[in-house]
Amino acid sequence: MDLIEQAIGILRAGGLVAFPTETVYGLGADATNSDAVARIYAVKGRPATNPLICHVADATVAKRYAADWPRAADLIAKAFWPGPITLIVRKANTISDAASAGGATVGLRAPDHPLTLDLLRRFDRPIAGPSANRSTRISPTTAQHVRDDLGDAVDLILDGGPCRVGIESTVLDVSGTTPQLLRPGGISVAQIESILGPVEIKTLTLAAAAPQMSPGQQAIHYAPRTPAYRFEYDQRQQITANPASVLTCEGDPIAYARTLYERLRLLDQLNLPAIFVQMPPNEPRWLAVRDRLTRATLPLSSGDASDRT
Ligand code: TXA
Ligand code: MG
Repeated sequence: MDLIEQAIGILRAGGLVAFPTETVYGLGADATNSDAVARIYAVKGRPATNPLICHVADATVAKRYAADWPRAADLIAKAFWPGPITLIVRKANTISDAASAGGATVGLRAPDHPLTLDLLRRFDRPIAGPSANRSTRISPTTAQHVRDDLGDAVDLILDGGPCRVGIESTVLDVSGTTPQLLRPGGISVAQIESILGPVEIKTLTLAAAAPQMSPGQQAIHYAPRTPAYRFEYDQRQQITANPASVLTCEGDPIAYARTLYERLRLLDQLNLPAIFVQMPPNEPRWLAVRDRLTRATLPLSSGDASDRT
């Protein structure tokens, strides 16, 4: 029996299968089975109010699980699927209410990975799948990361190699009149706007990034265990921390994103007293990376740097 067949057997029986995508590894369950979906929330320690993305092979399948499929969804799916963008649409009632956290919409995405596309086609049901990490920890970009985080809590891990994009998909809500960006990610705002025209930016971190915001209000997410602090790109010269504890910003956003989580994990394993992260320049092309770094760190207030290492 090949691995995909084994995975299908587990999914049909209500089990959990970790699967590779081009963005990060997912923790999968049959999206039409409420009990299986409930296991995802339990294993991740995820609040029941946070809905899951349902993975499908293509737009034809996606339409079966959407109550309506707006023109914007069609255009985006044609342009970017399979690929790193999730579309929020009104959901069909075949999708478990657990997967949509009781809401009227569902996030649908066709991931660009041959192993998982093969699984989705042969399973012939949507696979609910958040990132395969414990809630608030760093998303996994290799099968080993999933093993490290979830171990025996998952029935099978499909190893598809390291993830090519390295950060999560863009989340675009096309259920209303104007498309809204809920999470920046693998497909850029410029790419979306080239297809749909202006998009409303509704991401959490634009608010969370405001310097006056207190750490207690910070939407901490994707975080290492080591206390992590961010400083702006042009403050590098003023940071006197141990260089081994500083993640500097170099290269282009695509290459940077690919290895970001891996490097954060490695830094985290050094058991340093603190990690310092140089933010990328505040430019549109860095939006997704800045979003993840903002959620993973607290702002470094003056005077902290030299004392903490
Ligand atoms: O790249 C990705 O998107 C990965 C891979 C595995 O596909 N998945 C992923 O899932 O990052 P997760 O659960 O870690 O993040 C899903 C995001 C969350 O921010 C969630 O709130 C949002 O998508 N989301 C899901 N369904 C939604 C809905 N119906 N309405 C609004 N936001 C939704
Ligand atoms: Mg996640």
